[in-house]
Amino acid sequence: MRNKILKNKIASSAIRRRGGKGSIDVVVGLQWGDEGKGKNIDELLSHGIYSGVARFQGGANAGHTIKANGKTFIGHIIPSGCLQKDIELYIGNGVVVDAVSLIKEMRELEDLGFDVTPRLYISNRAKLVSYLHPFLDQADEYYRNKSSHKIGTTSRGIGPAYSDIRARRGLLLGDVLLPDFKEREENLRKFHHDFLNLYKEKHEFEIDEKKIEESKAKWWAAVEELKKLQICDLSFLVQKRLAEGKNILAEGAQAVMLDIDFGDYPNVTSSNTLPANVCLGLGIPHTVLRDIYGVTKAYTTKVGGGNFPARIKDQALEKAFQDAGHEFGATTGRPRMCGWLDLFALRHAIALSGVNKIFINKADICPINKGKNMKVVIGYKNNKKVLKEFPFYLNEVTSVITEEISGWGDSNHGVKNNKKVSKELRSYLNYIKRKLADLNVKIIAVGTGQDRDHFFNWEK
Ligand code: IMP
Ligand code: MG
Repeated sequence: MRNKILKNKIASSAIRRRGGKGSIDVVVGLQWGDEGKGKNIDELLSHGIYSGVARFQGGANAGHTIKANGKTFIGHIIPSGCLQKDIELYIGNGVVVDAVSLIKEMRELEDLGFDVTPRLYISNRAKLVSYLHPFLDQADEYYRNKSSHKIGTTSRGIGPAYSDIRARRGLLLGDVLLPDFKEREENLRKFHHDFLNLYKEKHEFEIDEKKIEESKAKWWAAVEELKKLQICDLSFLVQKRLAEGKNILAEGAQAVMLDIDFGDYPNVTSSNTLPANVCLGLGIPHTVLRDIYGVTKAYTTKVGGGNFPARIKDQALEKAFQDAGHEFGATTGRPRMCGWLDLFALRHAIALSGVNKIFINKADICPINKGKNMKVVIGYKNNKKVLKEFPFYLNEVTSVITEEISGWGDSNHGVKNNKKVSKELRSYLNYIKRKLADLNVKIIAVGTGQDRDHFFNWEK
């Protein structure tokens, strides 16, 4: 069942484009990732308003679980529109591409009945993740762990891949088609090997040569497959589609609070996750950007290192959120830390990203029954001092200021009609709306389960 009101809302906003040309809307996570963006993206794409969906940053560190028509797919690098047959899939120049992951996902999709090859376009300027990048990622984490500053990366080689690009020694995706690709790869391999040996000799990092050989073989096989795909000047293609009057959705990976510049450095990912990066990660001017959708959960989760001020202190309750919300990483399987909704961080993320429409996901997950109170974080403190601005480093935060509001237990699972929403969840949503009133955002829909149609419309 398609949801008519949401459809109209998206349609009306997608029409206001310049001179009949198409526009780009953006979806980003507003917390620390895992807000369930994949589901919202899949839903947005199902109304025939967009002709394509584009990844513009990050790599196979992302993990999107998409459920549609009884099928479940966990994607890391393929854009979330893969389960919809008419949507073009774009991987932009801002993405670091793990060839093995990409080919594996394409095979899995084929098994589900979706051959995405004819509608997948990859920028020749995207960056290649090499088979040694994940090992360098692990070596770096091993080294950091010794000095107790582990970031808790996804071990997908994201940091090293972006580092190589900034240091101007990396491989571009289009390089695979060049006659001297082997030579280019060999130069980088030598550099990586020296680097790995440094970790070994100076810091006792154990290099698993057998594993490296296995990865190497898989990587070269995947590169051969990659060569057969549509590698192109994606900026040109996207601009062409816009000129044809088509709309495109840009799909953020990770989230605003993990942005390399504005997140809690160094506990961040290695790319800019903010909507501002859509332009650079796809090669389009900012003038084509229209709606910015922000996604938050009704509570907060985080994986990896760094302070997490909103974390639920009661371990049993945190576990209850983890279990009820299946809060285990789609990429790494790690349990996610769970916290209360953090409105202080959310306001910061909205301001940074210019979001105008909000999805609140997982509102069905509430292990606190009606009549019992849950908390919402509304401010941070450094000892006795109330912080007026978002802190430079999150470890400055020693405690949080909270407000309490009644829980609703599991009474809203699968609700699709906003008239059927429990009184308590209704109060919670109105409370959030009041707290964000000055930011000019609309809570347009609220998620109540994993399926595409498990949501209800909220503000008009
Ligand atoms: P990296 O992106 O693998 O380098 O990891 C850096 C940080 O970002 C770590 O704290 C990861 O847990 C986090 N991270 C990266 N990708 C995701 C994601 O898709 N969801 C949630 N956290 C992520
Ligand atoms: Mg995820």
